[in-house]
Amino acid sequence: METKPKILIIDDEEVVLDSCTQILKGSGYQLKIANDGLRGVELVREYQPDLVFVDLKMPGISGFEVLEKVREIDSTIVTVVITGFATVSSAVDAMKKGAYDFLPKPFTPDEFRMIARRGIERRRLMLETIALRREKELLREQFASIVSHELKAPLGAVQQNLFALDFELEEKLTEEQKAKFGRIKIRIDELLKLINSWLRVISVDINKLKDSFAQVSITKPISNALESVASLAERKNIEIVSSISDQLPPILGDVLSLSEVFVNIMGNSIKYSPDGTKVTLTAEVQGQNLVTTIQDGGIGISPEDLPHIFDGFFRGKSGQAGHGIGLAVAHQIVDAHHGSINVTSELGKGTTFMVSLPLFVNSP
Ligand SMILES: Nc1ncnc2c1ncn2[C@@H]1O[C@H](COP(=O)(O)OP(=O)(O)OP(=O)(O)O)[C@@H](O)[C@H]1O
Ligand SMILES: [Mg+2]
Repeated sequence: METKPKILIIDDEEVVLDSCTQILKGSGYQLKIANDGLRGVELVREYQPDLVFVDLKMPGISGFEVLEKVREIDSTIVTVVITGFATVSSAVDAMKKGAYDFLPKPFTPDEFRMIARRGIERRRLMLETIALRREKELLREQFASIVSHELKAPLGAVQQNLFALDFELEEKLTEEQKAKFGRIKIRIDELLKLINSWLRVISVDINKLKDSFAQVSITKPISNALESVASLAERKNIEIVSSISDQLPPILGDVLSLSEVFVNIMGNSIKYSPDGTKVTLTAEVQGQNLVTTIQDGGIGISPEDLPHIFDGFFRGKSGQAGHGIGLAVAHQIVDAHHGSINVTSELGKGTTFMVSLPLFVNSP
């Protein structure tokens, strides 16, 4: 059953309440009225309207207080302030405080109907957006749970049995059979790593990272990352030139996940660069942030690909046997640190990533 949208009007002037009631008669809306702020707030709780019109100037609790209360009760309820000519500037203040629109007095029936229609539409869109967001969240949780229970757990069990079997048969296997065992083990290990990175990218709880935030120097995660990518760089004869001072002020963060950010970005810089090129690392304070720059002289990213590189599972045309996960994870981790990642790139010339992280500030 479709319910009619609900409107509440709070105004101390009977004539305003009467005319609004007249205008909305037979309009397909349900209407309630209140002639003071307190009764209005009571009705917001009981009646749960979609849209509230509230006069800014009323005796007793003011329109501003009503706006605040409505927001506390349900921040998705749309509010419109009714103002006299003299109070247009207060209408602006009210909108800064979250009112969606304003209705100047005196108003014509058409003006009132139009603003009501717009307000109701706004509320519908807000509820729809929330429902969609919830649905997406739910799908993500379901997917994570399927991947974890239906793929990761059984594969883990297969790996366990394989280890046991390998151990039991060790003496009896020919070299060729041992090599086959070895290949199976590597393949399973790769699959488990892939599943773990899927789980990472769809993980809902990356925000839990905040529990392990501490005052750290950026040099820590960077040197961890340098260590991880060293052998890859060596294989491609790529020199990583790092000029990062250890005198830089600290940031607030989680070393392990920040190391992952730099491994993913530096790993790409190496992977997507020709042999024998250079990758340059710098870090400096810019305003309230510490900005680390990773610059490569690699193949570059096309302007069409550039807006998508942080999307989960996106691989550029140049993506070389990757899973399209590294940058999505890096982005989520940096987000959880209230930082940002920017990138500039030119095809055939190279790419520069800038990771900006807020400096640690001593709380008083
Ligand atoms: N430094 C770079 N130079 C050129 N292209 C890059 C660079 N970094 C990222 N890209 C492009 O962005 C895409 C997404 O990068 P991302 O690291 O998320 O995934 P990937 O490298 O393909 O796989 P993986 O999950 O193994 O890291 C890549 O497929 C590649 O096309
Ligand atoms: Mg990558």
